[in-house]
Amino acid sequence: MEIKKVLVVGAGLMGKQIALNAAMHGYESTLNDLSGDALTAADIWMKDYLAGRVSKGKMTSQEAEAAVSRIKVEGDLAVAARDADLVIEAIIEEEAPKKALFSKLDQLTGPETILASNSSFIPSSVVAGSTQKPHKVANLHYFNPAMVMELVEVVQGAHTSEDTARTLLEFAMANGKKPIWVRKEIDGFVANRILSKLTQEAYFLVENGIVTPQEVDIAVEKGLNHPMGPFRLMDLVGIDIAYRARTRRYEQTKDENDRVPRCIEEKFKAGELGRKTGKGFYDYSQK
Ligand code: 3HC
Repeated sequence: MEIKKVLVVGAGLMGKQIALNAAMHGYESTLNDLSGDALTAADIWMKDYLAGRVSKGKMTSQEAEAAVSRIKVEGDLAVAARDADLVIEAIIEEEAPKKALFSKLDQLTGPETILASNSSFIPSSVVAGSTQKPHKVANLHYFNPAMVMELVEVVQGAHTSEDTARTLLEFAMANGKKPIWVRKEIDGFVANRILSKLTQEAYFLVENGIVTPQEVDIAVEKGLNHPMGPFRLMDLVGIDIAYRARTRRYEQTKDENDRVPRCIEEKFKAGELGRKTGKGFYDYSQK
């Protein structure tokens, strides 16, 4: 099937970038959120981003205007979902709201519409049962910042049809991405699974008082040449995401090694979630 119209639900850090990226690649793209304020903020961010690309000489003003004409923000989910060929869910990383949303989307969309989740760690098998078309449900996992990072993981659950997976791979490529086809659901998918090993070691070093989080980052950035150390990266992605992913894993495994590390718990409870709150392991309030 051919994707022409995309709906992204959730106007947070990821959703607004996914929606804008689609509009910049020629798709009719609608962004929806329960919060009118979040939609307004995302709308301003998208227009500012495009203006920034034009002033940086990365885009012509005609290209920016064309992208603006293809992007819509819409607070009414029923209106937003009308005629969508693909819906990408990018809401809070909790099972109950995702299940409720997939059930609603199932009623609001036609039988051919693909329902994808951008979740970092909730596999689509968790939500597929809330729909009448599990073969049309999969994970489509972007990386932050989604405008820049080329990897997209297309995760095919046992319920997902091959046709759906292939359509999503083609969609990702047409969005300028380099997708990989993850042929089975596996905890953490691929990139986060690999990253979690590095992060686990970083927690060990910090929790045992060997180095500070900032010194871990210096080691990884200056000794291994990663663009960002694990704590700076967590600030970028959101410490709430790390907290929720670890909480879920610990609930599943009850393995003490999977417990939420103290340094993450403290930041989460203090509401210091990284760049989006102005403070995490680093202070962004001056920028
Ligand atoms: N949003 C949009 N664009 C951004 C951006 C952002 N937040 N941050 C940087 N950019 C763009 C800049 O505009 C610039 O583009 P241009 O050259 O075309 O104008 C380009 O990225 C490079 O930016 P800078 O020169 O300012 O900075 P850097 O060279 O340091 O790159 C970075 C910034 C791309 C964020 C780089 O530091 C990096 O790659 N960091 C690692 C990111 C990463 O690993 N992400 C994956 C996280 S895990 C994840 O997302 C999984 C999920 O499940 C949680």
